[in-house]
Amino acid sequence: MNAYNFEFQIKTKIKFGRNKITEIPAILRKENRKKLMIVVDQGIKQAGILAKVTDALADQVDYCIFDQVEPDPTLAIVSAGVQYAVEEEADAILAVGGGSPIDSAKAIRSALESEKMDTEAELTSRQCLLITVPTTSGSGSEVTKTIVITDSHNKHKFAATSDELAPEISIVDPELTRTLPASLTAIGGMDALSHCVEAYTSKDAVLPFEMIATKGIQMVNDNLRPAVGNPDNMDARTGMSLASLFGGIAFSNCGLGLVHAIAHPLGGKYKIPHGLVNSMILAEVMNFNLISNPAKFANIARLMGVDTSQMTEMEAAHRSIEEVRNLVSDISIHSTLSDFGIENLEEIAELALEEKVMLKSNPRPVRKEDIVQILENLL
Ligand SMILES: [Fe+2]
Repeated sequence: MNAYNFEFQIKTKIKFGRNKITEIPAILRKENRKKLMIVVDQGIKQAGILAKVTDALADQVDYCIFDQVEPDPTLAIVSAGVQYAVEEEADAILAVGGGSPIDSAKAIRSALESEKMDTEAELTSRQCLLITVPTTSGSGSEVTKTIVITDSHNKHKFAATSDELAPEISIVDPELTRTLPASLTAIGGMDALSHCVEAYTSKDAVLPFEMIATKGIQMVNDNLRPAVGNPDNMDARTGMSLASLFGGIAFSNCGLGLVHAIAHPLGGKYKIPHGLVNSMILAEVMNFNLISNPAKFANIARLMGVDTSQMTEMEAAHRSIEEVRNLVSDISIHSTLSDFGIENLEEIAELALEEKVMLKSNPRPVRKEDIVQILENLL
């Protein structure tokens, strides 16, 4: 693919802005929906965020709550959600949370639709409406057509992509991220940065999404430090909500790369939070990919505030890696892979090589020994 030869369509209607969740009852009325199933996890409930959403529904909406979502959702959780939706006759699903509740809700809606194909009446019934409400800034899952589900038997995460998985509506209300703890703000922000960097440097990058991804890189650089350092800085929080959204839109259309190919087996096997894995490996993978497109990596340095006017292109490109390392250090992420007892690098490398969709868009061809070397450099 080349950057000036493309087609694209974004299925999801995005409503972005503070206090946008108050519009949910009107949306459901307009869509003529009778029963809403809210999909959340316990963390969202305990943080009081679910209450903010149900307050916004007031007594205008008939709703039920499926709260069994866990981090790294499994097929069993999806199956329980489908059963509950059928029992409750839900015709709309509202996913409230980070990547786990949103991915679960996408999978539940998708499975629900295939179950409905049994009778003629069901075939003609309308699709269950899916609305996403992100409460973290990072996964971008609110707008993507991708889900990541854990196969608990094989301790492996797998990603599925399909147009049907994309939500119809996403309500991105930065107010909901106000109480997000600093550590989750930090690793979510690094996930968003990874999406933007991988989409921008992807072999399948096309111009409209390069523009979105580069703006996302700039927004992470401008806003992640103040969002971590001062939780009430709503301008920074708003910037990070936008960066997450931009990352999701960009990688949905340009693909990801080696960071995520390595992150999935590491996350699946060692239960390391996704954003934390990315924080640990992003700079090292950029270092490996750098020679595939020095001009783009030099531009990343500029987007991260470096004056490259007196540098060669390669000097500037190397500075992008330094800037990512500085950012990770500034937001107090000091973990390394050694902290998690990572062993058997060969096995991780083999599993990463199975992530063929991601490796196809990685800017540099990858061999098993390259992945082992990257991991060794991180121990
Ligand atoms: Fe990610």
